Amino acid sequence: MLNKNLNLIIVVFTIIGLSFWIGLNINLLPKEASINAPIYDELFKILFIIGLILFIGMTLIVIYSLFKFRRKKGQLGDGIALEGNLSLEILWTVIPSVVVLLVGLYSYNIYDRMGGMKELNHNHHMIDNNSEKIWAGISQKSNTQLSTNNVNIEVSAMQFAFLFNYPDGDFISGELHVPVDEEISIKMESKDVIHAFWVPEFRIKQDIIPGQPTILNFTPTRVGKYPIICAELCGPYHGGMRASIIVEELSDYEQWFNKNRKTEV
Ligand code: CUA
Repeated sequence: MLNKNLNLIIVVFTIIGLSFWIGLNINLLPKEASINAPIYDELFKILFIIGLILFIGMTLIVIYSLFKFRRKKGQLGDGIALEGNLSLEILWTVIPSVVVLLVGLYSYNIYDRMGGMKELNHNHHMIDNNSEKIWAGISQKSNTQLSTNNVNIEVSAMQFAFLFNYPDGDFISGELHVPVDEEISIKMESKDVIHAFWVPEFRIKQDIIPGQPTILNFTPTRVGKYPIICAELCGPYHGGMRASIIVEELSDYEQWFNKNRKTEV
């Protein structure tokens, strides 16, 4: 009996150890390119490890049971009638409840650290100016800090394209260019149905809603070209609704900006 329990403990700890090793060493996500990405990936790793423990554990139990409890030669009668097992039922209720509760609290913490709990509604200056309500979005800084930002971009989404308006240069671009390591604040509005602005490398996604502007703040950390993907089923060509975000050094960005800006006549 003692030997059997010892074996069980060894197996359980091996599964947990293996899951942690795989979870911490294998990265299934695209490369990290914003300050949100490492925060998000922390949560992903934990969820991945929990998933691995369940997957490996259950697979082993199924394989073990297939061999251990298969019908033996000459065995003809019914199996034992099992009425239930109270302690087992308590165990498999309590463990998942605790896990779900902890994951819930941890997710809240991650969302808060990404700036999801910052209020974006209270920028009266912005509301008075535009006489519109702006809500939803992620920000790691408060609105007062954001108002000093010099990169001002408006995103329009429509079936089936994204357009990027640079009001300071009075031009519209089909590609989103942003300088690296600067906090970017984009204001997004849809011309027709609900779309979603998603950059997997940044680990951010925000709905774009008709008649209801949304704000999204992010800080890119890696120079490169990344896809912007519409992540809300918005019509027959939803799957083709993509654009690119080009993160570049400030000097390259300024060069691109000055090349495109409309010069006053
Ligand atoms: Cu726009 Cu899907």
